Amino acid sequence: MRPIVTWGLRNRLGRIIQPDGHAVMLAVDHGYFMGPTRNLEDPRKTITPLLPYTDSLMITRGALRNCVDATATVPVVLRVSGGVSILSEDLSKEQVTTSVRDALRLNASAVAMSIFVGSPHEHQTLVGLGELVNECEEVGLPVLAVTAVGKELEKRDARYLGLATRLAAEMGAHIVKTYFCDNFRKVVDGCPVPLVIAGGPKLNTEQDVFQLTYDAIHDGAVGVDMGRNIWQNDHPVAMIQAVRAIVHDGASVREAADRFKHRKDGKRGKK
Ligand code: R5P
Repeated sequence: MRPIVTWGLRNRLGRIIQPDGHAVMLAVDHGYFMGPTRNLEDPRKTITPLLPYTDSLMITRGALRNCVDATATVPVVLRVSGGVSILSEDLSKEQVTTSVRDALRLNASAVAMSIFVGSPHEHQTLVGLGELVNECEEVGLPVLAVTAVGKELEKRDARYLGLATRLAAEMGAHIVKTYFCDNFRKVVDGCPVPLVIAGGPKLNTEQDVFQLTYDAIHDGAVGVDMGRNIWQNDHPVAMIQAVRAIVHDGASVREAADRFKHRKDGKRGKK
């Protein structure tokens, strides 16, 4: 029997979670159910200036093939689930839409799919995750599971997210993406694989984003897989640099805010 976690799987995971144990992932996969959402109307325009500051890019195959140069060196976490749009009341009716073969053809470092625990299509998404893990482990490809809540944002508490993240890990996900919440430490403690957090809808201030990032890292998240709070900001490059400073450099909220201000005001910082 071959080991389940092969050298290839570990090597690909290492492109996403950096040697310091942390990860900054840029999420730009929103179009798969939201269409041309604000500031992601032209993905290439949004993504290109942010590429030097992200460890990996979470994206669909369509956006990757059309909006990112094939010579790009950024590791790709390929969103492989979908099947429903923002117009639907129930966003949980997702299944795998992109094959593992295509993910390999696109040189993905991992694949990502959503699970909808407690939703009408809980069963199909959980079984789908198990099947995706089966297939991906055959070829050494890590699977990231997203504990999606659809339009029910109020679900995001430690009890629900603790359940959903644990289910994802038990089904075999190698990384889980979830939301930050009060008592997040409890979610981390109950999940035996690394957790990254989404940013969620745009927060009121940059300070709120830095605080969210800081709290998540300090409660045990390995990093962020953040979208709207970066590219819907008027200064996305400054935002990702500041978030990166918290995740990788141990910056405080205040230091991140200073970094943001410096970059926003035109003083270039290093990666
Ligand atoms: C949503 O399902 C997408 O997978 C996004 O990648 C995810 O929500 C993270 O982006 P944001 O930080 O904008 O919430």
